[in-house]
Amino acid sequence: MLLRVIIIGLGLGFFALTFPVSAQAPGQPPDTMAARVEACTPCHGNQGQGTSDVYFPRLAGKPAGYLYNQLLAFKNGRRKYPPMNYLLEYLGDPYLQEMADYFAEQRPPLPAPAANDVSKEVLQHGQTLVGRGDPARQIPACGSCHGPGLTGMEPGIPGLLGLRPNYISSQLGAWRYGTRTAKSPDCMQQVAARLTEADVTAVAAYLANRPAPVAIAPAPKGAYVLPFACGSEPD
Ligand code: HEC
Ligand code: HEC
Repeated sequence: MLLRVIIIGLGLGFFALTFPVSAQAPGQPPDTMAARVEACTPCHGNQGQGTSDVYFPRLAGKPAGYLYNQLLAFKNGRRKYPPMNYLLEYLGDPYLQEMADYFAEQRPPLPAPAANDVSKEVLQHGQTLVGRGDPARQIPACGSCHGPGLTGMEPGIPGLLGLRPNYISSQLGAWRYGTRTAKSPDCMQQVAARLTEADVTAVAAYLANRPAPVAIAPAPKGAYVLPFACGSEPD
């Protein structure tokens, strides 16, 4: 009991998690990770699958290293969204890592592809940028980093499936305008800076329109070589 009080006093989920369920005080709700992320699930879904709000992103199945980098970025203001900045301000890094691990392990199915109102030409332009890039404008294929199946790579590159066009274009905009930054060298900033508004609309519509692949897990670290260095994906 004393130990339990100390554990609660420390506020470190890490220790409490390693306790067998029988050590729990009677009448207390179960101290599981699912219970602890309840503050997050109204916006991200129970399993991190996202919600009907077009701006709340899916978290499930993204590499834990990627999710952890984002939580650190919200905590220290490198990435800005006030509700999340406040929520994470006083949480310890080990707790952020546990939440990242929890959402990385979830495997809810991908949503049905988003309906969209763009033309065939726009989707075709998106497909070209994602699959081949535009060498004349030094834009690498998105798939060269996000993977041929767009499911990302451990530890730092997220998959791009199951996201809605509004979320994708707002993130690309945030990099172009400097309100989202990643570890240096910030390769996504370099990519986003080369995209026009029309490119952003096209890639966002195309990505949100992809059918779910059979395997949605990220590729293992080092599965392919990136076209240029990313601070989030150390060698
Ligand atoms: C009020 C709604 C809300 C709550 C509550 C919330 N989030 Fe978020 N979260 C968002 C939005 C919106 C974004 C995208 C913000 C942006 O970059 O503009 C986001 C982004 C994220 C990202 C980055 C996703 C990515 O793919 O880059 C992670 C990780 C995350 N949230 C985890 C959490 C965790 C863990 C909690 C609970 C401690 C939480 N969120 C609570 C709305 C919320
Ligand atoms: C050189 C490698 C590289 C290329 C090329 C690249 N990306 Fe990325 N991308 C990354 C990395 C690394 C991250 C994670 C950055 C971080 O840690 O926040 C990322 C993150 C993203 C995110 C954020 C996802 C989320 O859940 O919030 C989007 C959207 C994105 N990339 C879209 C694109 C698109 C569209 C293209 C092609 C036009 C592209 N990327 C090309 C490396 C790359």
